[in-house]
Amino acid sequence: MDETILSALSDIADMSGEQENNWDSAYMGSESYFGESPTLFCVRSADAFKAQGFTIILELGAGQGRDTKYLIDNGLTVIATDFSEVSCAQLRQKFGDRMTVVRRDLKQGIDLPPNSIDGCYAHMLLTMDFTDDELKRLMSDVKRILVPGGLFIFSVRNTNDHDYETGQKVREDVWKNPKGFNVRYYSNDDIRKFCEGFEIVRMNEFSEGNKVLYGITLRKPRDQ
Ligand SMILES: C[S@@+](CC[C@H](N)C(=O)[O-])C[C@H]1O[C@@H](n2cnc3c(N)ncnc32)[C@H](O)[C@@H]1O
Repeated sequence: MDETILSALSDIADMSGEQENNWDSAYMGSESYFGESPTLFCVRSADAFKAQGFTIILELGAGQGRDTKYLIDNGLTVIATDFSEVSCAQLRQKFGDRMTVVRRDLKQGIDLPPNSIDGCYAHMLLTMDFTDDELKRLMSDVKRILVPGGLFIFSVRNTNDHDYETGQKVREDVWKNPKGFNVRYYSNDDIRKFCEGFEIVRMNEFSEGNKVLYGITLRKPRDQ
């Protein structure tokens, strides 16, 4: 991978917020918190990236890498990001020789050059504790760094999820679950609002365990 791409994206460490700590504890307690197998969502996303001939993929909120492994096993060049120090260390230990891991709070922006990434993949990252403004910034960052015609494939929990409006309300559409994770739930209208400026190629509802999610495929317009 072009070194100028990577040199722009530095680790932002020394984070100590409640949500980071929760994820660190979860990942410290289990080597495979979400299991080892890739998700069906990832398998389909990898197919979509490969069908376009894409090679360079940025993964947001990679966790312990159940999907990351599938992406690299399928020949994609992956930069994986997460703010958990523990999961980043585990990712580096497992796959560090095959891909790049960057520890970063994605609320602080993605400092990659414009038009440098073919595809962006995020399974259940945007469903974490992001405010409207933080989401708008993240979407605009992704749009900036994708090549024209590039794809952003992501999933979020939605307002049909059984856990929606349960637990402790943190703010509009964000609820703290019993494990202490703040989860944001999206309506159909929310998706359309936050995805403005992208072409919505596909949007569907699916389940993973007890979670009810939207899977969304966006394309950066080819003329931008
Ligand atoms: C629900 S987990 C999904 C993990 C992985 N995508 C998977 O499906 O196995 C969400 C991940 O996002 C990370 N995360 C949450 N908020 C973040 C933020 N602001 N910046 C970077 N990573 C974040 C967490 O550490 C966690 O690994």
